[in-house]
Amino acid sequence: MVTVPEPVAPVGHLALVGLMGSGKTAVGRVLADRLRRRHVDLDRAITQLAGRSIGVIFHEGGESTFRDLEAQSLVLQLAASDPIVLSTGGGVLGRGENRAVLAADSTVVWLRARPETLVDRVGDGVGRPLLEGRNALGVLRDLADDRDPAYERAANLAVDTDGLTVGEVVDAVLDALTDVGLGCPEALAGSTVDGAGGRS
Ligand code: S3P
Repeated sequence: MVTVPEPVAPVGHLALVGLMGSGKTAVGRVLADRLRRRHVDLDRAITQLAGRSIGVIFHEGGESTFRDLEAQSLVLQLAASDPIVLSTGGGVLGRGENRAVLAADSTVVWLRARPETLVDRVGDGVGRPLLEGRNALGVLRDLADDRDPAYERAANLAVDTDGLTVGEVVDAVLDALTDVGLGCPEALAGSTVDGAGGRS
């Protein structure tokens, strides 16, 4: 009989960071399933809090309104008593308060990808106001230059996702957690199966 080892789970929340198209939402959903945790997609939580889509929030209130809602939603979601898998939005580390709350409560995993990979994944950029009507590859290259240092500083570990399927990235994250000693098998025992879902 073949025994499939139980995946390990980090103590505390598991937060995925990375640029648009890095796979945070799709990977987070499967990772949560594997870890038997609730999945929270921060962009989705923001739209629920605001009662408006991300596009409408940016259009009506500008990026600063969106960032205020993002910061509020982050605090609300990380206040959950059950350890969650959180798929953040690409710009979440822009504010110091967000970096601090993530550092306090979460194991942070950076899903890394080359801009050429990201642009393939985001397609026409619909639903992502920072990309709409712009040269997505150019924007993503600039964002990588701006944000990569913050991802690197905030992350407990980084996983390269170029050329990998969602399932392969999930396996790579679980392996990396184990390799760096952040996984804890007992953490699975207290987790829940109550998935809140996110976007694809
Ligand atoms: C943003 C990324 C988006 C969303 C918003 C801003 C960013 O999330 O939060 O459009 O600043 O990179 P995804 O990274 O899930 O696309």
